[in-house]
Amino acid sequence: MKDKIRLDKLLANAGLGSRKEIKKTVREGKVAVNGTTVSDSSLHVHLGNDTVTFDGVVVEYREYVYLMLNKPAGCVSATVDSKEATVVELVPDRFRHFELFPVGRLDKDTEGLLILTNDGKLTHELLAPKKHVPKTYFVKVKGRLTEGHEKRFAKGIVLDDGYKTMPSRMTVLHSDDVSEAEVIIHEGKYHQVKRMFGALGLPVVYLKRTAMGSLSLDESLAPGAVRELSAKELTLLRN
Ligand code: URA
Repeated sequence: MKDKIRLDKLLANAGLGSRKEIKKTVREGKVAVNGTTVSDSSLHVHLGNDTVTFDGVVVEYREYVYLMLNKPAGCVSATVDSKEATVVELVPDRFRHFELFPVGRLDKDTEGLLILTNDGKLTHELLAPKKHVPKTYFVKVKGRLTEGHEKRFAKGIVLDDGYKTMPSRMTVLHSDDVSEAEVIIHEGKYHQVKRMFGALGLPVVYLKRTAMGSLSLDESLAPGAVRELSAKELTLLRN
């Protein structure tokens, strides 16, 4: 974490407006450093020692932000794309300056839990292949699912390119012309869930991630909605 920071950057970091708006607010006398009203938004403050207040309320500096997105279908898990809408476009303006990125990828038509953060270290820990962080999906497939299919998932499935997946857990929730299941995988190969079912002749017609590690999607979050993780949820994600 930085020691010193420009006052306007600190206030912007706290979501108190754009640099231009902040310049104006500071001129209006709403900001104080160690109890003294200041007029210059370009001055530097010391994060450990100085106390900055905005309208009398202490302003805290935050280095990292962690958001939970219920990704809707139709947008790509990228920060920029020349053609498609991206998940980053769903981030509210007050978080934009944190330059958040998605933790891993979901396909354009996949819905559900996607974490957005600027914490590169945690992202690496969650995605590192050796860590085998479990990812849970709710899936609908065309065709009947059986106990035999559950056993195939438990053994590992050979994909179209010859790769044999690690053992995973598939639980049939409903079996009919279109069946439903929960799948937990411990790796993240390209289109993995779709290819696992595809290898069994069962095309995936709907896919939603419901959990990453111990962190579950907040089902009250509408598709496209974003909120910050609670402290408890962040602990679940770190563990
Ligand atoms: N597996 C897939 O096939 N697609 C996703 O988006 C995630 C996992």
